[in-house]
Amino acid sequence: MRIVLLGAPGAGKGTVAKLLTDYDGSVQISTGDILRNAVKAKTKLGLEAQGYMERGELVPDKLIMDIMEARLREPDCGEGFILDGFPRTIPQAEALRELLKKLSLKVDVVVNLDVPKEVILDRLTTRRTCSNPDCQEIYNIKSKPPTPDGKCIKCGSPAVQRADETVEAITKRLETYNEKTTPLIDFYRKEGLLKSISSLSSEEIVSQIKVAIK
Ligand code: AP5
Repeated sequence: MRIVLLGAPGAGKGTVAKLLTDYDGSVQISTGDILRNAVKAKTKLGLEAQGYMERGELVPDKLIMDIMEARLREPDCGEGFILDGFPRTIPQAEALRELLKKLSLKVDVVVNLDVPKEVILDRLTTRRTCSNPDCQEIYNIKSKPPTPDGKCIKCGSPAVQRADETVEAITKRLETYNEKTTPLIDFYRKEGLLKSISSLSSEEIVSQIKVAIK
């Protein structure tokens, strides 16, 4: 499958993407995960991106497109991909359209996860993420807790809060989403690719996506 997941911070894009990778070998490509790994490894990209991320702002489009052009050309994308957190601006969506044309590929569906704001705020303040860059399993102290001593169930690394999970950064991320990313809903509606899903159950969302791509 080749899909784009849209949705506010905390809407569940990462959770749904991880569940979908078990379905048909498609790879999850999360720009957030790629950037957090770069920050952790203190690469040039990481040093450039860190400030934007901690403030809850978007990283410049040019940096993101350089990452995505390289990533989408990797052989493991041949089976399909689930874009989690990309595109996030109209210029990114337009650049993705051009890039896919060059690669002779098409997106099957763009899924908008439509989750109420109060649910999002609750999820973001209770999320924990595995700190191992090769794992990054997503937990939630209410709905999917890590081990009682706060470790990842899969790999045993500490499950921690992200650097952008302060109240200030969460508020800014939601503002940025409303301003820069919600216009993509209309963009993809006009392209005839949009499917909006308002279920709060990740399993239900996954089954609706499977039906949509058949
Ligand atoms: P990114 O990592 O993409 O963050 P985000 O979009 O803010 O999304 P999140 O990862 O916070 O949430 P999610 O929707 O994946 O929800 P999750 O599944 O974790 O980006 C971070 C930063 O990087 C950006 O702010 C920006 O600076 C930069 N960046 C990234 N991409 C960029 C781009 N393209 N352009 C420019 N800058 C970019 O779920 C949240 C919680 O809810 C978890 O605890 C989970 O367990 C729980 N949960 C999920 N689903 C359910 C459910 N159904 N029921 C109960 N709990 C649930």
